[in-house]
Amino acid sequence: MTKSKIKRIPNHVAIIMDGNGRWARQRRLPRLAGHRAGTENIRQVIECFADYGVKYLTLFAFSTENWSRPQREVKGLLRILEEAIDREIQSLHEKGIKLLHLGRLDRLSESLRQKLQYAIELTKDNTRGTLSIAFDYGGRAEIVDAVRRILDQGIPPQSIDEALLSSFLCTAGLPDPDLIIRTGGEMRLSNFLLWQAAYSEYYSTPTFWPDFGREEIEKALIAYSQRERRFGGLRAEDTQSRR
Ligand code: IPE
Ligand code: IPE
Ligand code: MG
Repeated sequence: MTKSKIKRIPNHVAIIMDGNGRWARQRRLPRLAGHRAGTENIRQVIECFADYGVKYLTLFAFSTENWSRPQREVKGLLRILEEAIDREIQSLHEKGIKLLHLGRLDRLSESLRQKLQYAIELTKDNTRGTLSIAFDYGGRAEIVDAVRRILDQGIPPQSIDEALLSSFLCTAGLPDPDLIIRTGGEMRLSNFLLWQAAYSEYYSTPTFWPDFGREEIEKALIAYSQRERRFGGLRAEDTQSRR
């Protein structure tokens, strides 16, 4: 029933995984319990999107602005991601999924950096799907960093175009997201994929991230199927009519 309403599958889905703290508060649990539950939810979300044939999945786990949270929470988040990599990497690899990291590595703890680098290296030749984890990622910082490296390489202004700039972003080689989902109800990008989101379809649900499951995914895919993507052109019916 619901499945028959899913008529088009996005190639690349990017998710702003928000609402862990509110999920925990609802249950009178510490915020880190929410982050743990949220991280545990990732596995089934990956599987569900893979079942639907989504090739690229990108997850926003920690923004450049999230460093401003209390140190206890930040440290806990770093630790939880590290545990999740340990727990999940073998099964991701067996499923043929390639892991990528978006954002800065240099401010992460040494052990998290090493685990991420190991996981990226281990899965680099996999081709069934690509999972990108945005951790210490900010869209503005990414663009500033790209501009610096372009200048650093002495690239002349007349050679700079959109394709060149894209190739200097940490998403180089990835298609732009077709669908951006935000859980937790906010209607903002919070510095996520600013450049890449130019023509993404946006979907927000009030459901908190730890509760975002198969049924919610199907709702998002149905909503996406009903969008008409025009990229600045005309509606199909207007293109067909003569005047
Ligand atoms: C999202 O959940 C995870 C991160 C931003 C790290 P939040 O921690 O922002 O949860 P809320 O928004 O407080 O509910
Ligand atoms: C966005 O959530 C970042 C991540 C989900 C990683 P935030 O909770 O940090 O966003 P704001 O502060 O509500 O904009
Ligand atoms: Mg939040």
